[in-house]
Amino acid sequence: MVGASLQKCLFPVAGLGTRFLPATKDIPKEMLPLLDRPIIHYGVDEAVTSGCRDIVFVTGRSKRSIEDYFDRSLELEHLLERRGQKEVRDDLVRISEMANFAYVRQSEPLGLGHAVLCGEPCVNDSYFGLILPDDVILAEKPVLGQLAEVHAALGGSVLALEKVPWEETSRYGIIEGSECADGIFRISNLVEKPASGEAPSRYAIIGRYLLSPTVFRHLRSAKAGVGGEIQLTDALRELLAEEPVFGLLYKGERLDCGTKKGWLKATVTMALRDPELKDFVMDIVRKEGSDGEGD
Ligand code: G1P
Repeated sequence: MVGASLQKCLFPVAGLGTRFLPATKDIPKEMLPLLDRPIIHYGVDEAVTSGCRDIVFVTGRSKRSIEDYFDRSLELEHLLERRGQKEVRDDLVRISEMANFAYVRQSEPLGLGHAVLCGEPCVNDSYFGLILPDDVILAEKPVLGQLAEVHAALGGSVLALEKVPWEETSRYGIIEGSECADGIFRISNLVEKPASGEAPSRYAIIGRYLLSPTVFRHLRSAKAGVGGEIQLTDALRELLAEEPVFGLLYKGERLDCGTKKGWLKATVTMALRDPELKDFVMDIVRKEGSDGEGD
């Protein structure tokens, strides 16, 4: 069963995070906190609970803090030990033990397809997961694991899909295909960021992929597409002619942390679902919301 052997997951994290400037002038956007953990932690957690043991970050300049986060911090551990905070120390150590971590550099911002190609030396010849960590997805079963189940049953590559409003198709890769089982599509075409009038459907690719290593050959020969970038979607369209590509309407709730408003909504949503924080947040909202009323 191929699903059981999904070992590796790529995380493209070289982007500059300009939407969050100046906060991201000196820290990666992936390290912005969502409650008590950086955003990237949630994606890695999803990969690990989906069975991945090897996490490959495709990284860039000024992303050192991601490496440090997933490494041991002996100085801090010793300090916590001396202070008798053993539980906190153990929690920190567990982060570095979540998986094997490797890093490759994407030296130029040439697009998602190029970032994935940079990860090839760490993936070799096996199917691999790809997570775009801006989207944190709350789900009973991790989304990458849901894709692995489809792969185990049908083979081929599998992309996570969501039905989006027509006016939003230009923000996503959009598929064309036929539903071959409940919520599963056999994809016949893909278009990157089509205008709503030109989109072949409303089924958008969300940042979770389980990919065949054959995609690397198509990425190597890919020409710049939308936005002048090497697009993963274009390489997947080439892959279709050779191997099956499926789409799964995943079960879960997506929190888009890639914009200020999305990140704020994600923070409030997560806080409201935390029994220890819910009342605290509600009190602030009630108080701040009523301040100025009647002015
Ligand atoms: C990328 C992909 C796009 C996909 C999207 C999901 O676009 O190119 O096909 O729908 O991620 O988040 P980006 O958001 O990097 O522009």
